Amino acid sequence: MPRYSDQLINEVIAENDIVDYISQYVRLKQSGRDFSGLCPFHKEKSPSFHVNRDKQVFHCFGCGAGGGLMQFVMRIEGLDFVEALKLLADRAGIVLPEEGDVARDDAKYRQKQRIYEINKLAARFFYDTLTKSPEGRVGLEYFKTRQIHPQTITKYGLGYAPDKYDALLGYLRSKGYTDRELLDAQVIGEKNGKIFDFFRGRVIFPIIDLRGNVIGFGGRVLTDAKPKYLNTTSSPVFDKGRNLFSLNLAKKSNSNKLILCEGYMDVISVYQAGITNVVATLGTALTENQAKLLMKYCREILICYDSDDAGQTATRRAIDIINSVGGKARVIEMQGAKDPDEYIKLNGVVMFRNLVDNAPSSSDYLVKSARRNYNLDTEDGKIGYVSAAVDSLKGVQDDIEVDAYIKRISKESGISVDAIYAEYKKKAVAYKKEKDRVVRVPQISVLQAHKRNGTKLEEAEILLLSLCSKSKKLYKLISSEMQIGDYSTDTLKMLAEYIYNSFENGATPDSTAIMNKVDEDELQTVSKVFCLDEQYQDSDNAAMELINTIKKEKIEQMLEGETNPAKIVELIKMRDKLGRKM
Ligand code: UTP
Ligand code: MN
Repeated sequence: MPRYSDQLINEVIAENDIVDYISQYVRLKQSGRDFSGLCPFHKEKSPSFHVNRDKQVFHCFGCGAGGGLMQFVMRIEGLDFVEALKLLADRAGIVLPEEGDVARDDAKYRQKQRIYEINKLAARFFYDTLTKSPEGRVGLEYFKTRQIHPQTITKYGLGYAPDKYDALLGYLRSKGYTDRELLDAQVIGEKNGKIFDFFRGRVIFPIIDLRGNVIGFGGRVLTDAKPKYLNTTSSPVFDKGRNLFSLNLAKKSNSNKLILCEGYMDVISVYQAGITNVVATLGTALTENQAKLLMKYCREILICYDSDDAGQTATRRAIDIINSVGGKARVIEMQGAKDPDEYIKLNGVVMFRNLVDNAPSSSDYLVKSARRNYNLDTEDGKIGYVSAAVDSLKGVQDDIEVDAYIKRISKESGISVDAIYAEYKKKAVAYKKEKDRVVRVPQISVLQAHKRNGTKLEEAEILLLSLCSKSKKLYKLISSEMQIGDYSTDTLKMLAEYIYNSFENGATPDSTAIMNKVDEDELQTVSKVFCLDEQYQDSDNAAMELINTIKKEKIEQMLEGETNPAKIVELIKMRDKLGRKM
């Protein structure tokens, strides 16, 4: 099978603009040719995520994520290379040659395909064990006590993992998978050099993505033992912060609401009761990515977390996350039951549906819970209530909604609308500032000017290569002092070679071309080199300063390993000489 040609790939990428694309996900602020905002790949309060329009590169100086448009699309949408290319081609109105004409022979793609196969076989193995083998009978008994019907077991492909160390291991080895592949899929665990079935003596909940691939599993003990649930944490096909349990089924409900629960059993109970627009996060707090994903499938997210304190705290956090990505949340409040599974068992589905249909908006919920905490008969109580209630409105995007609540808070507290509105304004402005705050780091010296991740030597070399990529003149200067072999890591050598060769061939280095060819680890360095946009008053001088630092750092490293006194003296002399130059 052929691959898409580099030419076609470049054409598709060139027809899209990285700043436009990323702007769908990140509120970017422009300063010169540089755009910055809050990184979508890790949690941060001040923006360290940068996009360079000229170079079509992004890089986060906080977490190191980086690459070109393709890498951004792959990561944010959870797609492989070909899928991302298709998406970008669609956006640009370019028709790609049919699949089948096209190879996806890259190693990563094949590895992922193998893991999908492994997961599918494992899911079938667990399901067969549960439904067909004597070993699985305890699992069936368990589901029976939880009132799970056989049709539900089939619908969700539930299973049972035998209480053995090598049941699945033996099965999958016999199917020709290597231990490495099984470990990568995380169906097999490893401890002290021994490998064994990851799930043992547990009922199994397969996690299925939107394309129907089994991407991971949750497993519950049948007793009160701990941990109650074991989950796939991450694998090349699974990122728990980007997927939701049962979204594959929920999206088929075509409802404009989605109910968000905490657990596997909650989702299954609600679904079994005939309410199919229900999902759960995978044992973690809701992430922004999950909220965005959910919003692709609904207009409102109905949070239905456990009624205990932890659940209520998680509810407030989820509301914040949903608001922060521009979504609308409602809250399902259950009285007398710990979670929806229990609620439905106690009260039946009619009552539960009633809660769903009458779920208060998130601001209603927040204002009401603020009200519960204060005694409105006292002045202090009134003030405390107004402050807490107004606090819960600061993230609300809809002005009419804010207005309605302020009227209500005023009525309940007896404090004037104007006073409450002034208080709200203050909080909303502070909140907004906090959200898109831009921190400008004053430039002290070339090396101190930005956050370092690697060693000082590596960092100086990255800055140097970044300068080098900017002009032929700087390239000439730098390459006369630093040969390709002088760079300290393989990635930097490769990059130096690429940049040097580009200039030698009369071209400027093309960041997009190189980024499509390097692996994940290298990408961090490559994107950083191309994204760094430090402006120096005198670039030649900055380059010389960096070269000097690099030389000194190298001498320091040699000194560390040197025992010969004569050599040490010699090295120190060399170092001091360099020091004086600065
Ligand atoms: P809960 O403890 O509320 O469990 O955890 P549950 O869903 O009500 O399960 P049952 O009814 O006791 O069977 C909620 C979710 O948190 C994650 C799981 O995803 C679970 O469904 N969790 C919980 C874990 O990942 N590990 C644990 O040890 C416990
Ligand atoms: Mn439960």
